This record gives sequence, structure tokens and C-alpha cells, in this order.
Amino acid sequence: MGRLDKKVAVITGAASGIGRAAAIRFAGEGASVVIADLNREGGEAAVRDCRENGGHAAFQLTDVAKEEGVKGAVERAVKEFGRLDIIYNNAGLGGAVGQLEKTSAENWDRTFAILLRAVFLGIKYAAPEMRKVGGGSIISTASIAGIRGAAGLHAYCAAKAGVISLTRSAAIELAKDKIRVNCICPGLIATPLTYNRLPGGEQTATQLFAGFQPWPRTGRPEDIAAMALFLASDDSEFVSGQAMIVDGASTSGMGAGNLPQSSQAATPSMLGDEWSGPSFEVKRPS
Ligand SMILES: NC(=O)c1ccc[n+]([C@@H]2O[C@H](COP(=O)([O-])OP(=O)(O)OC[C@H]3O[C@@H](n4cnc5c(N)ncnc54)[C@H](O)[C@@H]3O)[C@@H](O)[C@H]2O)c1
Repeated sequence: MGRLDKKVAVITGAASGIGRAAAIRFAGEGASVVIADLNREGGEAAVRDCRENGGHAAFQLTDVAKEEGVKGAVERAVKEFGRLDIIYNNAGLGGAVGQLEKTSAENWDRTFAILLRAVFLGIKYAAPEMRKVGGGSIISTASIAGIRGAAGLHAYCAAKAGVISLTRSAAIELAKDKIRVNCICPGLIATPLTYNRLPGGEQTATQLFAGFQPWPRTGRPEDIAAMALFLASDDSEFVSGQAMIVDGASTSGMGAGNLPQSSQAATPSMLGDEWSGPSFEVKRPS
């Protein structure tokens, strides 16, 4: 018996990366999945992967920046599979990048339409369908960039912080209907979003990103899909309003961040081996 048997899910941005991994995982646990994405070719391939993994799936060409797009994805789930239990608001991109003063208001708005407004629309249209079946699970992809910021990613960081905040307020409003609302804050994950502009693509990313966080390997889409499965399943029945960080300890504290592993290893030696006493007692090595 699968953990999502008889459940119906919409996953936006499921033609690639994290969304695609989640769709395949959900399907393998018995869910029927609507793959909602702008990318038809990738979306249809994801449908095939879901079916091969034992679930039902359908592709819905969707632009989450448009209200009709998000509404249409929810309607497709109900029409095709008869109900809606789970929506995973995950579609995303880098959006407006670079210096704040050079960022156009138009690109700022486009970024927010995809990363934050679409999450609001996903909640707005999914909640009434979930109420009809006695509850549900709303999941969104935020980011550790919504917690700690990132250079040159002003709109992205602000929108992801907004996703975390909206998750909390929606969770309060929808709890009485047994609709849980949570988001996931991934660390750096090797997906086309992060490696398509890198020379060497996925292979380079797999090597390079291993040093981004203390956990000694690169973050994978499947790491995020595993958390999404927990939040989608009944195992998380008492979990709502949370931002679940999945980042290999990169936000755990100083020395754990965006440093090469050699620099992380240097941090303890700055402090001493077992005890770090008053600095005036320390003899600086010559
Ligand atoms: N990869 C990371 O390191 C990372 C870290 C933190 C958060 N995230 C977030 O994870 C989510 C998934 O990103 P990913 O890394 O899997 O990237 P990805 O590029 O592999 O997948 C994103 C998907 O979203 C789709 N999409 C983009 N704009 C859309 C639109 N307007 N309408 C419908 N679909 C659209 C794309 O076609 C693509 O299939 C995003 O919200 C991203 O911000 C990623």
C-alpha cells in the first residue's frame, strides 16, 4: 500500500528538477498527479515517468503567472481524477537578478507573479476543492534564500520570504478545515535551474555543489521530493504553518554556509582544538 493511495495532486513546475522528482515519487506512492508546467516536452516526459512508476498522471499546459493557468490546473485534477487532496506550488525561476538599482520594476513584478502570486492563487483555488473532501495538504517551494538573503537575488529572496509568510497566515485560516499549509526551503540543489548556465552542466554542478554545505555531497531533487512526500502524506497530519529546511546543514550557523570545504575545515583551527579560552592568552603561531 502506497503512502498516497487514492490521493490526487497538482504539482506546478513538474516538468523539471524538484517538481518532476516529486511527481515521480508521489506517483510511486499511489497518487494521481497533474503535471502543470509551461514546458510541454518536459511535462509529457514527466507523465511517462510517473506512469512507469505506477501512478496515474496527466499534463496540463500551465502558466502560473496567469490566474486562469493556476485555476485550470486545479480544475483539470478534479475533471480527470475526481478530487484534489494535494497541491504543490513549486514552479519557479531566478527572475530579476543583478543590482537593485538596475532592476526594472517590470522584471520585479514578473518575478513576484511566478514565485509569490502563483502560490497565493494555488492556495485560493485548491482550498475549496480540499474542503469538499474533508481536508488536504498545500505545499510550496520557498528557499533558504527566503530566510537569509543572497547577493543579486533581491526579488527572488523577497518573494521566497513572502512564500514563508503566506504559508503561516494561510495555515492559521485553513486549519479548521483540516487543510495543512507548509513550505519547503531547499538549499542548493542540482537542477536545470542551477546548472543550465554552468559550463559542464549537471556534471560540474554535482562536483561543485558538494562543497556548498557541510553535508558531504550535492543536494538532489529527490532530497526535496522526500520532504514533499512527508508533507503530502498523512504522516504529517499535525504539521502546519511550517517552513521545512532541507539544506544539508548550510543554514545551521557560521562556518556552515557558502564556503569551500577547505575554509570550513579551517574554522575549528581558528578556535583551538578542545577549548577556546580568552584571546589574550592565545599565542599566535608565527
Ligand atoms: N535548485 C535549487 O537550488 C533551488 C533552491 C531553492 C529553491 N528552489 C525552488 O525550487 C523550485 C523548483 O525549481 P528547480 O530547481 O526544480 O528548477 P527547474 O528549472 O528544474 O524547474 C522549474 C520548473 O518550473 C517551470 N516554470 C517556470 N516558470 C513557470 C511558469 N510561469 N508557469 C509554469 N511553470 C513554470 C519550468 O518550466 C520548470 O519545469 C522553484 O520554485 C525554485 O525557486 C530551487
